[in-house]
Amino acid sequence: MTMKISGLLRNLLIAACLCPAAACSVSNESGDKEMDRFVSDLMDRMTVREKLGQLNLPTGGDLVTGTVMESDLGEMIRNQEIGGFLNVKGADKIRELQRIATEETSLKIPLLAGADIIHGYETVFPIPLAMSCSWDPDAVEKMARISAIEASAAGINWTYSPMLDICRDARWGRIAEGNGEDPYLGSVLAKAYIRGYQGEKMSRNDEILACVKHFALYGASEAGRDYNTVDMSRYRMFNGYLPPYRAAIEAGAGSVMSSFNLVDGIPATANKWLLTDLLRDKWGFKGMVVTDYNSIGEMDSFGIAPIKEASEKALAAGTDMDMVSGGFLNYLEQSLKEGKVTMEQIDAACRRVLETKYRLGLFEDPYKYCNPEREASEIFTPEHRNAAREIAAETFVLLKNQGNVLPLKPKGRIALVGPLADAADNMCGMWASTCRPENHSSLLEGMRKALSGKAEVLYAKGSNIYGDPETERNATGYKFVYGNNRKLLDEAIDVASKADVIVAALGEGADMSGESASRADLTLPDVQHELLKAMLDTGKPVVLVLFTGRPVVLSWEDSNVPAILNVWFAGSEAADAIPDVLLGKVSPSGKLTATFPRSVGQIPIYYNHLQSSRPDNEDYSFQRFASNYIDSRTSPLYPFGYGLSYTTFEYGKPELSSDILPAGGTLTVSLDITNTGNFDSHEIVQLYIRDRYSEIARPVKELKGFRRVFIKKGETVHVTFTLTGEDLKYYDSDMNLSYEPGEFDVMVGANSRDVQTLTFTAE
Ligand code: BGC
Repeated sequence: MTMKISGLLRNLLIAACLCPAAACSVSNESGDKEMDRFVSDLMDRMTVREKLGQLNLPTGGDLVTGTVMESDLGEMIRNQEIGGFLNVKGADKIRELQRIATEETSLKIPLLAGADIIHGYETVFPIPLAMSCSWDPDAVEKMARISAIEASAAGINWTYSPMLDICRDARWGRIAEGNGEDPYLGSVLAKAYIRGYQGEKMSRNDEILACVKHFALYGASEAGRDYNTVDMSRYRMFNGYLPPYRAAIEAGAGSVMSSFNLVDGIPATANKWLLTDLLRDKWGFKGMVVTDYNSIGEMDSFGIAPIKEASEKALAAGTDMDMVSGGFLNYLEQSLKEGKVTMEQIDAACRRVLETKYRLGLFEDPYKYCNPEREASEIFTPEHRNAAREIAAETFVLLKNQGNVLPLKPKGRIALVGPLADAADNMCGMWASTCRPENHSSLLEGMRKALSGKAEVLYAKGSNIYGDPETERNATGYKFVYGNNRKLLDEAIDVASKADVIVAALGEGADMSGESASRADLTLPDVQHELLKAMLDTGKPVVLVLFTGRPVVLSWEDSNVPAILNVWFAGSEAADAIPDVLLGKVSPSGKLTATFPRSVGQIPIYYNHLQSSRPDNEDYSFQRFASNYIDSRTSPLYPFGYGLSYTTFEYGKPELSSDILPAGGTLTVSLDITNTGNFDSHEIVQLYIRDRYSEIARPVKELKGFRRVFIKKGETVHVTFTLTGEDLKYYDSDMNLSYEPGEFDVMVGANSRDVQTLTFTAE
């Protein structure tokens, strides 16, 4: 690690009789020694309470999530009672807090400044689930990079991202925050996030600390309800859920957030097996573990322990920082006296927090991330906004396009209807409290700009998102079913009658996905459904532009609406990105990373499932005594990996370089793909494998490779995948990573359903 000591801190260190010998370039090993010495010297001068202060992470309350717990940060900092804070916005404010910490205290320890920068700061990118549908690690890295530049310009040095929870249950609102259901794609994207946020070892002032969350398994919350129980076998855990977290650790993630849920019956926050045996001892994680919001306090509800004992358990398990509960600061000194925790445990946690600050370069310059000039010039720049616009267009998934209704012809009259058509503040989705909707355009404004002088855009709202405004939300939650507002509907019918084509901007409001937004019914709210039906009744072509933070149930829409473009929540530049695709400037190329079910009753539904003892018929027709439903097909509405474009692709016959994959060797699978349509477009080519027979049941398909290729109309590209034994490995019944020699299927295709299969033998 390279360390340079600034004049200011050098003086502080000399004054404190520390050795500032780090003022030179040093190798990693000697850098670590240097860090050890620095931290040890500092800790020698700290009281127990001051050490516990470093483990305390209150919220600033500026951007509040969860329960509002206001805290007087300045006073706590002067008392050396906090190691950092979350949710304070603005370089000036954070600079002031750092100043108090480093100029008004005896220890002069700088602070961690955390925030949930999940998909952008003021330049907002599509929600993470949408980002994953680009299958583009470079886009994800760029998004994280721009997020880091903007957040760090505003004083933030720590983001609570990436969220790497695999999720197979669309009822869970937080599916919006992750990369979908696949551990392989999730791992590739996890690394891209870490590279984007942390860059080269966080040495620059625009590279920030990432936080891998929610460790672990939070995406498997039972019944899709937040804060609920998780229970799964180690086999499923290791093969299906843990890989992305591990990939992020391998990529150098500097911090981890434990999850709210239980793992093997023990809250992750107090789970020693998870936080110490696995994360640190097996995976070699050297960074810091923070709890989720008040999860130490919430161990009481789990029936595990009241807050004092819960704090002891969390510390003993390997937790370093306590987010918001205050349990560490308020109780552990007493626990130490009672012999319930040890000084070694407190020291270990304190050391890891201080090391994290050291690695961030905060001791070198506590104001590294507080630069009002950067804040004025590096946020929401045209360059960042262009990147967000381009990337957003990559994430849209064209689900249906019967009769090529799309792209729209830029002529005549286009009716734009729906509660999301003129809703600039609804474009960003969840975790976007740093965005400034007053700076965004709505889809209506974007469409009018794009079509100016070419076509007329008529507009009517048509309905509210889920009912009349007065009754939309009450103490018991949302009112989804409510009589429509006849006036709004009539206006939309009138506008539609004058148009050549209708674009219906419908779906979820931004607050219908994300934290604390689980749903038991995943269809369109009734009022919107009625509007859509009325539009179809006009007999004119209808395009459904779907806003959503999760897979929704579109069975009726799929049967009745000719074209469906899923635009998720595309961020601050959605108003331009959506017309880019609707009007054919860009051909859609996103593919689903989470299965769309036919009904909620099919959930959990995911492509990489284990086979049943009595598989369903291949054509999904009902058969008695097979694994199916009497009232539904078992197949999804839209499978994992699915997505159309404005062109057509012809997949040639794939070829294997050999029928044998030798031990320690490689095998290639290659094929031609031709763009046979009329648009240049990207295509996402996918490769899956299946282990035919094995000691432990293996999934029917597992993604092991993909390519995002650009193919001009009429052109052919040759795509080659290389397989090695590593791609065949899985965690067996003893949790060893290995594979058994034998026959494997390898499948190549445009999605997880439409594949061509070859077979090889692995030695
Ligand atoms: C969420 C985390 C988030 C934290 C801090 C919690 O409620 O579960 O994902 O990072 O709040 O805002």
